[in-house]
Amino acid sequence: MTCEATAYDDFPYPGSVYPQTHPNRLAVIAELLGMTPAPPDRCRVLEVGCGDGINLIALGCIFPGIQAEGFDLASSAIAHGQRLIDELGLTNVRLRPADLMEYEPEGLFDYIIAHGFFSWVPEPVRERLLRLCRQALAPQGVAFVSYNALPGFHARRLVRDALKFHAGHFPDPRTKIQQAQAMLSLLLSRRSDDEYAALLRKEAEWIVNRDNQAVLLHDDLAEINEPYYVRDFVAKAQQHGLQFLAEADFHEMNESVFPESIARLLRPMNLLLREQYSDFLKCRRFRQTLLARSEVELERDIPPHRVKTKLIAAQVSPRSESVCLDPGVVEGFVGRNGAAMQVDHPLTKAALLILRDHWPRPLTFDELVAAAADCLPPHLAPDEASQEGLAEILLHGFRSGLIELHKVRGDWSIVPSERPAASPLVRSMLRRGDYQVASLRPANVRVDSPFKRQLLLLLDGRLDRPALARELADRLERRELSLPPDAPPLPQLIETALNQAAREALLR
Ligand SMILES: C[S@@+](CC[C@H](N)C(=O)[O-])C[C@H]1O[C@@H](n2cnc3c(N)ncnc32)[C@H](O)[C@@H]1O
Repeated sequence: MTCEATAYDDFPYPGSVYPQTHPNRLAVIAELLGMTPAPPDRCRVLEVGCGDGINLIALGCIFPGIQAEGFDLASSAIAHGQRLIDELGLTNVRLRPADLMEYEPEGLFDYIIAHGFFSWVPEPVRERLLRLCRQALAPQGVAFVSYNALPGFHARRLVRDALKFHAGHFPDPRTKIQQAQAMLSLLLSRRSDDEYAALLRKEAEWIVNRDNQAVLLHDDLAEINEPYYVRDFVAKAQQHGLQFLAEADFHEMNESVFPESIARLLRPMNLLLREQYSDFLKCRRFRQTLLARSEVELERDIPPHRVKTKLIAAQVSPRSESVCLDPGVVEGFVGRNGAAMQVDHPLTKAALLILRDHWPRPLTFDELVAAAADCLPPHLAPDEASQEGLAEILLHGFRSGLIELHKVRGDWSIVPSERPAASPLVRSMLRRGDYQVASLRPANVRVDSPFKRQLLLLLDGRLDRPALARELADRLERRELSLPPDAPPLPQLIETALNQAAREALLR
């Protein structure tokens, strides 16, 4: 099928991977809540409005056993992704140009993803998306739908309305963008201290700092950008035989972020009401909601032992320089985005230190217990009760965003091998000139340094370190590459870059 050219063809939306849509994440949440979802490495995934399909291509590279299908109205984006698929020889990812209004699914899908789609399409297309989720979701399947949320979108609308008023009528996308940027500068130049100026500034700065012209055009200046209260979105989904499963960022559902006086009021509410009140309290702007079929029975009270069948990772560090593992001594641990936990449980304190050292590689529960046990004196050797305690605290950590849980482990190494090999996807993306590449976690990783770009391009698994150094030295000699005069010696630079690339999950 070919589709009529759209604004997305003329001004392509930047492709990205969205780890929050990854079946690994969705399967963990579904399993914790009592479902039996398909294994993330052997599932069928559908992405609606997939753009250039990089989200699926990254998945297909990590898990050869999946079958991924994506479609988008923008033929040029699909062609862009197809070139990558052909270059990589991927047989498990199929992209095609198609209009959701005419799309007919073949068979059922374990995971359906619609990222950055729902709020940006007309109402009949939104209805069709939810109908498709019901029609094509496997009995234990999970759908991911993101959308702009109220009340937070009211604030965004202050700037959006001004930008649309000023720039919306210019037919040429480039002029539209330039005019919108001029309007943003004007809004930012208002140096008053009143509440309106403060709000305008915050919203305008957010757009300016994002520094992405295509997103400015397709999101902020879009004709359609419809926000929803979570209550209304879920009511709509229910009409299509779907139910609210959770938020893809599970920690967003944690009422403990509020002061106890508020959390106490929220706790007795039913889940949906609690979510809605949280949105009012947080002024929430965006949601990434997971849906399941209505008839699926969920267990909202998660038994901690379910953590034991997951892989565990955490980018965590202790607050104190030397952590005391003794019982009863409280130690603080902090993670990304301000997530934090106070722990006095010896096995958990040791486990968090192990997770810090292994980040970003996830460990099984048993691997984690064994490694943590090695750090503890014999009288604190982990018994059944302390392992139960660990599972309980890890679940708490997952709820608060400190701990990551995975279902399966991707095949990548955190230690560069003797003849290091970068992921073929990373090398293909660099070859086509991308500065943001998809790692094997997957995640988006910026590779701006020319030295690192050239090094990664050389990592085909055949060259050892001396050969890499010789090749890079030749390029320096030929002035195809340059380094600052005070740069460390080449072997040291190579080792540092390799270790960093391994930690970023760019190496196999
Ligand atoms: C804001 S972009 C998001 C792209 C990608 N999912 C992301 O989040 O980066 C919306 C995408 O939906 C596609 N789209 C809009 N209406 C569509 C329809 N009726 N059928 C299929 N794709 C559609 C657009 O072409 C565009 O690529």
